[in-house]
Amino acid sequence: MILNICLLPGDGIGPEVTEAATQVLDATGARFGFSVESTSQLIGGAAVHATGSPLPEATIAAVERAGAVLLGAVGAPEFDREPPPRKPETGLLALRQRMGCWANLRPVRRIAGAGTTPLREELAAGADLVVLRELTGGLYFGTPRGFSPARDEGFNTLRYSVNEIERLARFGFELARKRRHHLTSVDKANVLETSQLWREVFVRVGSEYPDVALDHMYVDNCAMQLILRPKFFDVLATENLFGDILSDEAGVLAGSLGLLPSASLGGRVALYEPVHGSAPDIAGKGWANPIGAILSAALMLRHSFNLEPAAAAIEQAVERTLQAGVLSRDLVPADAAFATTAAITRVVTAHISGAA
Ligand code: NAD
Ligand code: IPM
Ligand code: MN
Repeated sequence: MILNICLLPGDGIGPEVTEAATQVLDATGARFGFSVESTSQLIGGAAVHATGSPLPEATIAAVERAGAVLLGAVGAPEFDREPPPRKPETGLLALRQRMGCWANLRPVRRIAGAGTTPLREELAAGADLVVLRELTGGLYFGTPRGFSPARDEGFNTLRYSVNEIERLARFGFELARKRRHHLTSVDKANVLETSQLWREVFVRVGSEYPDVALDHMYVDNCAMQLILRPKFFDVLATENLFGDILSDEAGVLAGSLGLLPSASLGGRVALYEPVHGSAPDIAGKGWANPIGAILSAALMLRHSFNLEPAAAAIEQAVERTLQAGVLSRDLVPADAAFATTAAITRVVTAHISGAA
């Protein structure tokens, strides 16, 4: 079996973590009888430098031919003042929208013994949830948007249709059925009309899933509850911007943002990417935590290629690596010894190959 993958390394630590995930995929293929055929394409700031666009046509064409996409990260401070067509982030958002990837899964799990968490250990222990983030709607894409002619005002539009909410709700209830049958819908229905519609749709769709316990939480309270009682959460379904913010926060439950993977589903081609960004502050140093990207590759094997045993083998290898104390800089106290990206990757692949 040949897996046809489009790699989009992007910017900053993106290429470093994509390389790590690729090595792990190769080792997994050697054990489970598949091989990876990949093409590497430009996205983000790297693409702007080479072509003037953060999502060149050649990249779109390659993505459309691929069985799945593995993306590193985009973004660099040098583009902060550029107009939207030359911003790295515009390339990523356009890719999600063009591929129609509206369902973004961001699993978060605290692995016992996997480095220190900035939280009290007993609070984080046992946290196991999935942030289900709506990915192609809301403030990110609503129109009209822009600046007034004098640039003394900026504006964005928050819109959600019943269809957009309903398909995410169904996805969430189905996901909850495969987990602990609990779905928390997060909104701001005390203030926003879009959230009132969101809540109505979740209640209506929820009546078709009597075996799933549905509750609703305001997003400000949710930000607090995630830290106070993370074990309360199973599936946390929310709109695009809330999901962006809450998933970074949830990274702290796992131990670090660098551990979180994601899968963007529902479209023509699925995208797999770590939740973190391009981390310009540590790029090029060999310090990047590759686990978010490696676990994204596991999600790819599971969701795009139906290779559950291979996906589980990667997850188990990651768990063993972390539990053995092979930890990147973001997972140890300041000034403590840490493992480099390459060293962590070697240990994970050794676990998969049976050499560790
Ligand atoms: P960031 O996620 O890049 O970094 C936040 C902090 O977490 C930094 O201190 C960084 O060093 C650390 N960190 C992140 N990933 C890490 C990893 N794998 N290993 C170790 N430490 C890690 O967020 P930011 O600094 O707010 O944004 C930087 C750039 O990345 C911006 O241009 C932003 O738009 C972009 N970004 C891209 C994506 C994406 O491509 N999916 C996601 C978020 C941010
Ligand atoms: C993420 C990132 C992106 C987002 C940015 C880079 C556009 O923060 O994937 O979480 O906001 O969706
Ligand atoms: Mn984000």
